[in-house]
Amino acid sequence: MKAKIAILPGDGVGPEIVAEAVKVLEAVARRFGHDFEMTEHPVGGAAYDRCGDCLPETTLAACKAADAVLLGAVGGPKWDTLAPEKRPERRALLTLRSELGLFANLRPAKVWDPLKTASPLKDEIVARGIDLLIVRELTGGAYFGKKGRGEGGKSAYDMIPYAEHEILRVARMAFEAARCRHGRAVAPRPPKVTSVDKANVLETSRLWRETVTALHAAEYADVALEHLYVDNAAMQLVRDPARFDVILTENMFGDILSDEASQITGSIGMLPSASLGTSGAGLYEPIHGSAPDITGKGIANPIATILSAAMLLRHALGLSGEADAIEQAVADVLAQGLRTPDIASPDGPPTVTTSEIGDAIEAALTGK
Ligand code: IPM
Ligand code: MG
Repeated sequence: MKAKIAILPGDGVGPEIVAEAVKVLEAVARRFGHDFEMTEHPVGGAAYDRCGDCLPETTLAACKAADAVLLGAVGGPKWDTLAPEKRPERRALLTLRSELGLFANLRPAKVWDPLKTASPLKDEIVARGIDLLIVRELTGGAYFGKKGRGEGGKSAYDMIPYAEHEILRVARMAFEAARCRHGRAVAPRPPKVTSVDKANVLETSRLWRETVTALHAAEYADVALEHLYVDNAAMQLVRDPARFDVILTENMFGDILSDEASQITGSIGMLPSASLGTSGAGLYEPIHGSAPDITGKGIANPIATILSAAMLLRHALGLSGEADAIEQAVADVLAQGLRTPDIASPDGPPTVTTSEIGDAIEAALTGK
């Protein structure tokens, strides 16, 4: 297969981890006989330093023209003082999400067998199994609502608007994902969607709950549906994560819950994501940020980005065998005991670097 992949390394550890994912994609192309045309484009603070814009027109155009986009991370202390609308987070990430119409963000969180001890939860909780998927609404809510200041800067507001059609399309994605996970036997239980809101307080959440309930009754009665308030969901995630299969939630709740979910699996350095719309490319990125504190040290964990590349192959290009091969290579390397510092146990063997673990995954993939 021929495919055009736009590569956006970005800031902080972005370039280091993306380099490993590119290495793995090249290995997939060799092993399975594909032709991936991968072209790098500037984004984030790195792009701002080069041309005064965190999302240059040429980068946006390249993303729109590509079959898929792989992104590292954006942002860092150097650009924190820019005006809010120029900052990497808003100008690059949020604009990319909305311009590409990426309304659903899939964030799978699971405990890999060899990493059971990396979870901060008690063994008996981990033993019940942690394998869930957060489906986060990505182009609505407080992130994109009207915001501003009043009273000469002494008051501020952020609106959380949601329209029924925005809820329906992401809810549909969550129900479909639940059916699909069940089909792939990732989750050996009936498919279940937990819709998370704050319907005891927020009007948008009441609309959210009504809409999800009606869609479920009309089209997805084979999937179990429960509703949880977000504070309760946050608590259940550490008390009994095994109860979750697919979590469907709005933009900001999804941001918060996905960091929590990542931590219970051991490290945020392990969690990939796929941002999808109704058609077109899709953006694939680790859920972690640019990690300025460890930038340039060669110790960042590239696995979240490598697994994002696997999601890219599965969702954007329909190459599920290739995606499985990457996931298997990651499992093999973890089973061999290779660890970057974030997933190492204090009494374990010496840790490896970003490129060493990337090389090992490449080798496991190509059988060398
Ligand atoms: C994420 C990040 C972003 C978000 C930030 C960097 C704007 O935390 O992708 O989870 O809040 O969406
Ligand atoms: Mg986040």
